[in-house]
Parts: sequence; C-alpha cells; structure tokens
Amino acid sequence: MSKVLVTGGAGFIGSNLVDKLVAAGDQVTVVDDLSMGLITNLSKNRQVSFYQKSITNHDFMKKLLLQENFDYIYLLAAVASVADSIARPYETHQINQEANIYILEVIRKYHLRIKKLLFSSSAAIYGSNPELPKNENSTVDPLTPYAIDKFSTERFVIDFGKLYGIPTVAVRFFNVYGPRQNPKSPYSGVLSLISQAILHHSAFTLFGSGEQTRDFVFIEDVVQALLLLTKKSDLKYEVFNVGSGKHVSLLQVIKVYEKISGFKLKTNIRDERQGDIKHSYADITKLLAVGYKPKYSISSGLKLYWESLQN
Ligand code: NAD
Ligand code: UD1
Repeated sequence: MSKVLVTGGAGFIGSNLVDKLVAAGDQVTVVDDLSMGLITNLSKNRQVSFYQKSITNHDFMKKLLLQENFDYIYLLAAVASVADSIARPYETHQINQEANIYILEVIRKYHLRIKKLLFSSSAAIYGSNPELPKNENSTVDPLTPYAIDKFSTERFVIDFGKLYGIPTVAVRFFNVYGPRQNPKSPYSGVLSLISQAILHHSAFTLFGSGEQTRDFVFIEDVVQALLLLTKKSDLKYEVFNVGSGKHVSLLQVIKVYEKISGFKLKTNIRDERQGDIKHSYADITKLLAVGYKPKYSISSGLKLYWESLQN
C-alpha cells in the first residue's frame, strides 16, 4: 500500500488514474477545486480522501504535504485548455506553474522523502516545429501561455529533482480522450465536444479546415504509461512523450466517429484558433523501450468511449 497524492484527481485523467491506484490497494488523496473536475468521478471509498481546494492555496498544500508524507505525487491539476490560457494568461500561470513550484519547494525545504513525483506536461510545447513525429529531443516552440508554463514547469521538475535529489519524471501527453472528459466548456477537449454534439444532435464548431492533425491517445493507455513511469520503474529525471504514435486529421476522426455512432455530425465552420498547432504526432520509441504497450486504436478507443456515453 502506498500513500499517493493526485492533484486534479477529480478530473478526466486524474480520476481514471485514481481508480487504478485504488484497485491496487493504495491510499489516495485528491486535491481538486472542481473547476473542471466532478466529485462523481471519484468512487466513494475509504481509500480516497478528497479536498475541494485550489493547489494555489499555499497554506493548505504545505500542511497537507507535511502531514501526509506521500510516497507518490502526480501533478495533474491545471487549466488544461490552450485557448483558455490565451484568455486568462496570468490566472492560468498561477495554477499551471507557480502552484507546482511551491509543492516542489515544500518537498525540498522539509526534506520530504517521496518515491516519485510525476508532472503532466504537454505536446503543446512542441508548438509549430514542423518536424514530425515529435520526439523528446525535438526543438520546443511554446507558443501560448499554457505551453510556456508546461515547458518551464517540466524543466523545473526535472532540474529541481536533480539538484535536490527528488526523484521526478515528466510526461508530455498528446491528445488524450475517453470516458469522463468533461465537455462543459467551449474550451474542452475536441472529442468530448464532438461526443456531446452527436449525443444531443447539436452543432459542432470546427475551427479551421479540419485538416489539422492530432495524436489521439485513449485514457486507458495513458494510465498504463503513468503507472509504468512511477510505481513500476526506477526511472528519474526523464521526459516521455505519451501518445499513440499515430495521427489523424479532425475530418478523419469525425468520419470514424460518425460510423461508430451511426449519426451525422452537424458542423459550423469558423476561422482557425489563434495559437492552434497544425500537426501533432508523437514518436513514442522512448516509452515503448521501457515497456509501454498501447492497446487502443482510434476506432477501438472511440467505440469504448461511445459505449460509455450510452450508459
Ligand atoms: P481536466 O480539466 O479534466 O483535469 C484537470 C483537473 O484540475 C480538473 O479536475 C480541475 O478541476 C482541476 N483544477 C484546475 N485548476 C485547479 C486548481 N487551481 N486547484 C486544484 N485543482 C484544479 O483535464 P485533464 O485532461 O484530465 O488534464 C490533466 C492534466 O494533463 C493537466 O495538467 C493537463 O494540462 C494535462 N494534459 C492533458 C491533455 C489532454 O489531452 N487531456 C494533454 C496534455 C496535457
Ligand atoms: C489538447 C489539450 C491540451 C493538451 C494538448 C496536447 C484539452 C482541452 N486540451 O490541446 O491540454 O496539452 O492537447 O496536445 O484537453 N477544435 C475545434 N472545435 C472545437 C474545439 C477544438 O475545431 O470546438 C479544434 C482545435 O482548434 C484544435 C483541435 O480541435 O485544432 C484540438 O483542440 P483541443 O481539443 O482543444 O486540443 P489541443 O489544442 O490540441
């Protein structure tokens, strides 16, 4: 049994991770302000303690870290939308970077002995670098407040770890999709918005030509990667792409989804979004080398996602 902290644990990726940690017998603490997460994403279970707090609340975070002495820490809390960070750059910076640095500082200052801390960075940091697929040594070109915060925090986590002997890793998620991705904001992940439009027979707004490509990776594969890089290996001070290693255009993905759901999506076309990345596609060689075995294609993942929405 390990003691685990998951910030953002009521959110999409976080709550799916929490389920697996609980199944493994861990004692899990979730800190989430429920700005995007849902309490109903967490099972009512004595192994899960939930705090509806912001990670920017220093007093609370310090007290929690000192009191609990966690074995593993997953830093997943963030304002996950690129477009939202363009609308609210200073506010999102406090969450996406500053609050995470404070957590590292408490660990350093009080010599907390954690087994591993994982930070969730993003493929957004590669920006408009035309090299495809993107590998971990590709040039980064963070174009938005979101990407700048993700890249700088990733460096902080890795180099702070090296300097002060704190075992850390960072992951660069590509476009994760699946059950519990919350479509409540216009800035939500595109496949949650497409699902919503198909379910309610409403219109989907397509920004740009639809020829932009993304590496969509199913949530189950992502959770597998998170566990592999924390509890199942001694790796530290490394950064890993987490994707499917395949890419598809939005138009292609819509076609696949229409076939699976049996519905035709109504689409309104608008100008492409400011700061939007044209092509994103992961080289996952480094992750495969440590034992990652992705199990889902875009059609098998979308099928499971669609089935989960029927229930
Ligand atoms: P999500 O929005 O479902 O999860 C983030 C969680 O953080 C939410 O539950 C939200 O309520 C919480 N949160 C936001 N601000 C907070 C604050 N100040 N204090 C406490 N909690 C706060 O998004 P997700 O897709 O699950 O993303 C998880 C992490 O992975 C994020 O760091 C995101 O940037 C990163 N990421 C996601 C993707 C993706 O495709 N989903 C890709 C790359 C990186
Ligand atoms: C997503 C994640 C981000 C992550 C990045 C990594 C979310 C909300 N964003 O950003 O956290 O770091 O992947 O690759 O999870 N689109 C539309 N109509 C819509 C919404 C989106 O056409 O209503 C288009 C966008 O313009 C974009 C594509 O769909 O071209 C994907 O958008 P989005 O799901 O917001 O993801 P990213 O910006 O790639």
